[in-house]
Amino acid sequence: MKDILTARWMVQMIHTADNMYFHGWDERNGGNISLLLTEEEVKDYISGEVIRTIPLNFDAKEIIGKYFLVTGTGKYFKNVKYDPAANLGLIRIAQNGVDAELMWGYSDGGRFTSELPAHLMSHIARLAIDPENKVIMHCHPTNILAMTFIHTLDEREFTRTLWQMCTECIVVFPDGVNVLPWMLCGTNEIGEATAEKMKTSRLVVWSLHGIYGAGKNLDETFGLIETAEKAAEIYMKIAHLPRVNTLTDEQMHLLEDRFGVKGREGYLD
Ligand code: 13P
Ligand code: ZN
Repeated sequence: MKDILTARWMVQMIHTADNMYFHGWDERNGGNISLLLTEEEVKDYISGEVIRTIPLNFDAKEIIGKYFLVTGTGKYFKNVKYDPAANLGLIRIAQNGVDAELMWGYSDGGRFTSELPAHLMSHIARLAIDPENKVIMHCHPTNILAMTFIHTLDEREFTRTLWQMCTECIVVFPDGVNVLPWMLCGTNEIGEATAEKMKTSRLVVWSLHGIYGAGKNLDETFGLIETAEKAAEIYMKIAHLPRVNTLTDEQMHLLEDRFGVKGREGYLD
């Protein structure tokens, strides 16, 4: 059996958690990541023995047998690199669809993030649209969060404001951002609401809390959130100042043509 800490996906997960911490997106235990892996990717690194079974408390029958590397609940992103086995777990969705089988990790008796419903339901929603989706990432980026206190939560308006803040925003997230009102976190209800929003956008803002991103790999998903957060940072710097210049819808249409993307239907005039 190979050393799991040398697996490429493990190294990427550890680097990503560290990078998110240093961006200030994951204070204390804030944030969580889930990475979908194939049996082929994991088989050389695990014995195949189930360490313990943990109930999901919802039905995940669409993803029975799938493997996910998931951050642990209450764990600090800043500590992942020092003790990956305690802070991360590799789970497989059991054949009954309602349990997770622990294949590696959570070595101190811990369990997966309290936000697993939102993660797994979002994986199911994104996989139906994009079979290559592998990552769901949640964090608390300062400026996105700040923006939800002072900006309308109307999704078109929220998206347009972000698109206007950096030339390349519309290229990186042409599908825009969807926005949920404040809801109680860690519940199946917020999971279902997030997954519903994931059907039309890879970014879902949780008002007064943080953001969810989805993507094909850790880098792409990190980059998606990074770009939205950068735009929100610019907004927070200028929101209280008179705006002399702005990106126009005409300029954004030129960007659509240049980069071969199409902004969300009805979001540009
Ligand atoms: P966990 O520690 O359970 O992952 O929760 C962190 C968080 O960000 C909740 O929204
Ligand atoms: Zn959170």
